[in-house]
Amino acid sequence: LWTPSNIIADSIARMRDQVGSDNVLLGLSGGVDSSVVAALLHRAIGDQLTCVFVDNGLLRLGEGDQVMSTFARHMGVNVIRVDAEDRFLGRLKGVSDPEQKRKIIGNTFIEVFDDEASKLDDVKWLAQGTIYPDVIESAGAKTGKAKVIKSHHNVGGLPEEMNLALVEPLRELFKDEVRKIGIELGLPSEMVYRHPFPGPGLGVRILGEVQKDYAATLRLADHIFIEELRRANLYDQVSQAFAVFLPVRSVGVVGDNRLYAHVIALRAVETIDFMTARWAHLPYDFLDLVCRRIANEVEGISRVVYDITGKPPGTIEWE
Ligand code: XMP
Repeated sequence: LWTPSNIIADSIARMRDQVGSDNVLLGLSGGVDSSVVAALLHRAIGDQLTCVFVDNGLLRLGEGDQVMSTFARHMGVNVIRVDAEDRFLGRLKGVSDPEQKRKIIGNTFIEVFDDEASKLDDVKWLAQGTIYPDVIESAGAKTGKAKVIKSHHNVGGLPEEMNLALVEPLRELFKDEVRKIGIELGLPSEMVYRHPFPGPGLGVRILGEVQKDYAATLRLADHIFIEELRRANLYDQVSQAFAVFLPVRSVGVVGDNRLYAHVIALRAVETIDFMTARWAHLPYDFLDLVCRRIANEVEGISRVVYDITGKPPGTIEWE
C-alpha cells in the first residue's frame, strides 16, 4: 500500500542502497522539498549527510534561525549555515533589472554552495529536492522564470561541475505526497504547509535595486501580514501571501508631522496550479488591521496598498 510510512521506508532502503557508506551533500533552502529530503536522508544515513544552508540576506524574518533550530538543534542534522548576505547584496548593487537580479542571485548561490562543498572531504553525492512536476517541466524545457530558475538549481549545472552523482528521493512524488511524508517524518506543520517562496526570495519583492534597509523594512511588513493571516485563520485559505516593497515615496502624516516615505503592497492569491490565480478577497476589517499595524510598527512606510490584479494579467510575484 502506498502510504506515507511505506514510501518513507522504501525510500530509505533505496537511498541506503544507492549511497552505501559515501557522504552526501544537500543544499537546504528551508522550503518543503529540500526539508523533506534532509529529514529523509538523515533517517537513512545520519551523519553521512551534510546540509549547506545559504543565508543570502533575502530571507524572511527569522527564517535562518528557524531552519537551524529545526534541523540542527532538534533533529541533529549536520547543517553548515553560510552567512552570504554581503556577497549577495554586493553583487546586486546597482542592478535593477528583474531578470538580471534573478541571474545574479542564482549564480551567486551556486558559487557560495560550491565554495562550501569544496571544503568538505569525500562527498560523492548531491541530494536534491526535485519533485515529479520539476522533472516534467525540465523535460519540456518550457520557459517562464520559475522554471528557468528551478532547472538552473535542480537539474544540470552543479553536478557536472562538481562531479557528484545525484540522489533525488522525491523524483516520483507530487507536492501533496511530499507534504504528508514531511509530517510523518516529524517536520513542523508550519514548515510543511508554508506558502511557496521564490528562490530569489525578497530579491524579487523589492522592486528595482535591492538595498539592505529595504530588505529589513520588507521583512517586518511581511511578517506582520503573515502573522495576522495566521491569527485570523486565513493563512491556509490563501495559496500565497506576501508583502512587496515599492521604492517610491508618498506623502503621509504622523501626528503633526508630514512623512515622506515608501510604500508596501500586500499580495494574496488563491490558485490551484499557480499558472493562473485570483486575488484573495480578504475581509476589509482584516486588511484594515494589517495596514494599521504596518503603518504603526514599520518605520519608513507611509502607505499600504492591496494588489487586486489577477494572473493574468499580473504574475504572482511583482518581478
Ligand atoms: P509568478 O510570479 O511567475 O509565480 O506568477 C508563480 C509561482 O512561482 C514562484 N516563483 C518562483 N519560484 N524561483 C522559484 O523557485 C523563481 O525565480 C520564481 N519566480 C516566481 C512564485 O512565488 C509563485 O509561487
